[in-house]
Amino acid sequence: MTNVFGLSHKDVSSYSGQTGHEQVVFCSDERSGLRAIIAIYNTLLGPALGGTRFYPYESEQAALADVLNLSRAMAYKNALAGLDHGGGKAVILGDPGQDKSEALLRAYGRFVESLGGRYITACDVGTYSEDMDVMARESRFVTGRTVANGGAGDSSVLTAYGVFQGMRAAAEHLYGAPTLHGRRVGVEGVGKVGHRLVEHLIEDGAEVVICDVNERAVETVKARHPGVEVVDGKEALIGAEIDVYAPCALGGALDDDTVARMTAKIVCGGANNQLAHLGVEKQLSERGVLYAPDYVVNSGGVIQVADELHGFSMKRARSRATQIYDTTLKIFAIADEDGVAPAVAADRLAERRMSDVGRVGSIWLGR
Ligand SMILES: NC(=O)c1ccc[n+]([C@@H]2O[C@H](COP(=O)([O-])OP(=O)(O)OC[C@H]3O[C@@H](n4cnc5c(N)ncnc54)[C@H](O)[C@@H]3O)[C@@H](O)[C@H]2O)c1
Repeated sequence: MTNVFGLSHKDVSSYSGQTGHEQVVFCSDERSGLRAIIAIYNTLLGPALGGTRFYPYESEQAALADVLNLSRAMAYKNALAGLDHGGGKAVILGDPGQDKSEALLRAYGRFVESLGGRYITACDVGTYSEDMDVMARESRFVTGRTVANGGAGDSSVLTAYGVFQGMRAAAEHLYGAPTLHGRRVGVEGVGKVGHRLVEHLIEDGAEVVICDVNERAVETVKARHPGVEVVDGKEALIGAEIDVYAPCALGGALDDDTVARMTAKIVCGGANNQLAHLGVEKQLSERGVLYAPDYVVNSGGVIQVADELHGFSMKRARSRATQIYDTTLKIFAIADEDGVAPAVAADRLAERRMSDVGRVGSIWLGR
């Protein structure tokens, strides 16, 4: 492995050894200021697919840790989304507001191209469909481009739709009916995913309570739906009498304190990495809270951008995202049967598909 940054070879190999990654690539282009790390967790089910995060990491160590975690999570997400993709992710180190340029994005695109399709990139925090258009001028292995360029556009459309399907499944499992009608749902964060989730909930007849640190985001929702209740932050939201808590802001929403104080009986939201640490999934189960695993219910976005690789059809992608309902129900059933938390059941199901389906690639085809 060529390490062009300051990390010692030992740092990198100990990470890779720990997490079982297939390939970790450091990319550097001095003139454009590009420093990026592409991590491929596995390609058992097909080429690795996952977004590129553009973020001002405190250190290279932090960037490496993030990309290793994120790429592994993508392998599990893609497996349970039924996609023919392994798990990968990339990070560009820098402030997207200041450091992003055409040259940098195109240099990055060339590194993606150099992997020959082992890794396909898409949007993530700090990158947008317009950036994918620029990268795609250098690489065939870019998805999530703008609609004007034949792309799938904003992936939050099917992310929110998929979260709603997961929530319907949780309602079916807990209440015996696949609807949020008459339930009170607390949505934390009404950005791209959260505000679309609110639309689905209102259409289904739910009462909605929201909070967001961004006043404009709150006002946009209020303008469309004056009946939505607004509370002052997460503390007020989880303390309110709600049936469902939908974290749609940042990761780590479910920590010890939140779980202890929560009134909701279902947690189902779009945010990535909701469990603040290992063991929270058990605490949720012990408190009788049904947790719909984040990477299962928020896979609508990756389903949307994966579809673009076959010539985008919203109808086909949406029908695939509808299956999140069945997958979530299946996970709850396995969790009950095996006496484990749904997060554990989800991991087991993903590992089973990676192993069972991934194995067929070893059948000799003579080419
Ligand atoms: N966009 C997608 O397709 C997609 C796909 C999978 C997962 N996700 C995850 O879903 C989450 C939301 O993504 P998004 O695309 O809607 O991002 P976004 O930036 O559009 O929205 C996030 C919202 O959360 C708000 N927020 C931030 N901190 C908050 C806090 N402490 N309390 C309340 N609100 C807060 C922000 O003001 C913003 O309005 C992220 O965790 C993201 O990783 C998104």
